[in-house]
Amino acid sequence: MALMEVAQGNRRRGKSRGSLAQSVEKWFKIAGRDLPWRRNRTPYGTLVSEAMLQQTQVARVSPAWEAFLRQFPSVRALARAPQDRVLAAWQGLGYYRRARNLQAAAKVIVGEYHGKIPCDRLSLEKLPGIGPYCAGAIASIAFGQREAIVDGNVARVMMRIHGRNVDGDSRTGKAWLWNRARDYVDESRDPALANEGLMELGAMVCTPNSPKCGECPLHEVCGAYASKKQDQIPTPRRRAARSVLHVHAILVIVNGRYALTRRQSIGLWSGLMFPPTIESPRAISRAALAQRIGVGGKALSACGAFTFLTTHRSVRFRVWSIDDASARELKNAQENAQENAQENAWTWHTQSAVEKLSITSAMSKIFALAEAQGNANVKARARKNGGK
Ligand code: ADE
Repeated sequence: MALMEVAQGNRRRGKSRGSLAQSVEKWFKIAGRDLPWRRNRTPYGTLVSEAMLQQTQVARVSPAWEAFLRQFPSVRALARAPQDRVLAAWQGLGYYRRARNLQAAAKVIVGEYHGKIPCDRLSLEKLPGIGPYCAGAIASIAFGQREAIVDGNVARVMMRIHGRNVDGDSRTGKAWLWNRARDYVDESRDPALANEGLMELGAMVCTPNSPKCGECPLHEVCGAYASKKQDQIPTPRRRAARSVLHVHAILVIVNGRYALTRRQSIGLWSGLMFPPTIESPRAISRAALAQRIGVGGKALSACGAFTFLTTHRSVRFRVWSIDDASARELKNAQENAQENAQENAWTWHTQSAVEKLSITSAMSKIFALAEAQGNANVKARARKNGGK
């Protein structure tokens, strides 16, 4: 078998898999990036950086991490902060559920662990939002525990080194990957360096496309490199087409205040303040939209449109303003509707309050369109008046 031959060849050349982790440790000490959370390692700093890094790139995380730690310098500070401040500090990172989970984790750490982050994988895994990868990362990187980590980057490195394709979503594939990651960390000198170096290798060298094998400390023992199968391991996957969601955001303004509502606690932008929306998987006409809102077709004016991409969805926003009389009618209808009393209640906010609440890029875009429309209306009115 090719892999066996590679392994035998490697052993003959004096390179055994036993030195994988130690080779990575040495490489990481020299080649690892200087990132803010690596400068002065603390368990809390690591908890925050790992939560941020789960779905966001390092370039975005770096400034956000520093600002977050200035604003919430300890687990206790984070636990007692108002949720809206925590969400605002998450601005630009997306996937705001992570911020709510992080604060929920801080509350558990204060309540159950006297404010000290637990160092063992099992306790870490019980915290909100912390899965096996994150628990392994915190236990090993912050506490030096001999714990394994597997994420997309690590899975790719392991498959390539071992020259083997597995399905990382299947039970057996997962088990194989975790076993390899355990073998790896078991042979390390310093589990923190070995694991963080492995992540770094996956992010910077053993990349999905065009890996930089010439720079890799493991290329001599790499099965994929030996058989020139780097582009076939892991098997390239075609990304599933994004599902389309049409979101009509309605700007309802009464007495200079905008209606906002807190989104449901599940789904996109869950728990965040947003203008009222009508959402559907299919496009709907202005007339149908007006009917669903309960206003006349002419009450709605289009302010603009934009598309927002998430990993799995293409969200097509259309932003509408509504005439003053209809806005007042909707406000009255809202106030009278008993069933809306709690969940979907509208609250009324000044422009500057809205700006503070516009922490997501979707909200910022909606209100940028609103402002452009407002300016256009003012100019149109001025033109009309000037013409008289
Ligand atoms: N991704 C997740 N954790 C990371 C870390 N500590 N360094 C770089 N990339 C990461």
